[in-house]
Amino acid sequence: MRVLRTVLITLGVAALAGALGAAVFVGQGWYNVGAVTQHWQPVFTLLETGLRYSVRHHAREILVPERTSAMVQQGVKVYAQHCVQCHGAPGVAPKLASLALQPSPGPLVHMTQRWQPNELYWIISNGIKMTGMQAWRFHLSEREIWSVVALIERLPRMTPAEGQARFASPPEPMGEVQAEIARPDGDRGRVALAQYACQSCHILPGVPGPRVDVGPSLKEFSRQRYVAGRLPNTEDNLVRWIRDPQQVKPGSAMPSLQVTERDARDMARWLLRDTARQ
Ligand code: HEC
Ligand code: HEC
Repeated sequence: MRVLRTVLITLGVAALAGALGAAVFVGQGWYNVGAVTQHWQPVFTLLETGLRYSVRHHAREILVPERTSAMVQQGVKVYAQHCVQCHGAPGVAPKLASLALQPSPGPLVHMTQRWQPNELYWIISNGIKMTGMQAWRFHLSEREIWSVVALIERLPRMTPAEGQARFASPPEPMGEVQAEIARPDGDRGRVALAQYACQSCHILPGVPGPRVDVGPSLKEFSRQRYVAGRLPNTEDNLVRWIRDPQQVKPGSAMPSLQVTERDARDMARWLLRDTARQ
C-alpha cells in the first residue's frame, strides 16, 4: 500500500510540476509562434503523427469510387485553379506567397505512399486545422474532389515537362527587399532554406521537417563530389544549382524556386559548413 501511495504522490507532483512548467513557458511567451522559425522537431513530429491518426480515423468509412481517365482530365483543371499555387506540380514551383507558410505545403507527388484514396478525399474535403490547408467541401463538388484525388494518383508518373505544360505560369516579379534576419552568423542559410520550403522535398541538416524523399537527403552534402551528378560540388556551383536547377539540368524534377543570389549563397554555406563541422 505504501509503495502505491508513494508512486501516486510522485506521479501527482510530477504532473503538477509539468503543468506549472508548461504554464510558465506559455505565460512567458517563450515559444516563438512566428513563421520564420519552425516548430521544433518534437512538436513537428507530434503534429505529424496526430495528423496521420486523425485522418485515418475520420476517413475510415468513406467509400472510394472508381477513378477514370476523364476524372484525371477534370482533376487537372481543378488542380490548376486551386492547388498548384501552394503545392506546385512536377517541374513547377509553388507561388511565392505559399513558400514561407509554416508548415509549408509540400509537393503531392508522393501522396499515394502516405495516404489511401479515401484519406486524400477526406483531407481535401475537410482541410487541416492550423495549416494553410483549407476545407474544400463547400467550394468543390464531390466529383471534383474525387477528380483531384485521381490526378494526385497520376502525379508520380507525370514528367516535369508534362507538369510544366499543364500547370506552369509566368514567373512572379520579385521584391527588392531581403529582410535581415537576426543572428547573421551563418544561421541565416538555415532559416532561408525553410523560407523557400526546401524541406518539403529534402531532409536538411538543422531544419525540422517531414521525412520526405522527393529529393535526395542533403544531410551530408559536403561529402558529395557532384551537385545533381552534373557540377563539381563547390559553393559557387551549389549556388548556381539552387538558383536555377532547370538551367543546369533541363527536365530535372527540382523546380526553379526564384531564390535570390544572397539567399542561395547563405543556403550553400550552411549545407557545406554544417557537414564539414561534423
Ligand atoms: C493556401 C495554400 C494551399 C492551397 C491552395 C491548397 N493547399 Fe493543400 N496543404 C496546404 C498546407 C499548408 C498543408 C499542410 C502541410 C503539412 O501539414 O505539412 C496542405 C496539405 C495538403 C495535403 C496533405 C499533405 C501531406 O503532406 O500529407 C493534401 C493531400 C493537400 N494539401 C491537397 C490539396 C489539394 C488537392 C488542393 C487543391 C484543391 C490544395 N491542397 C490546396 C496548403 C494549401
Ligand atoms: C519539389 C521538390 C523540390 C524542392 C522544393 C527542392 N528540391 Fe532540391 N532536388 C529535388 C530533386 C527531385 C532533386 C534531384 C534532381 C536531379 O538530380 O535532377 C534535387 C536536387 C537538389 C540538390 C542536389 C542533390 C544531389 O544529391 O546532388 C540540391 C543541393 C538541392 N536539391 C537543393 C535544394 C534547395 C536548397 C532547395 C530550396 C531552395 C530545394 N532543393 C528545393 C527536389 C526539390
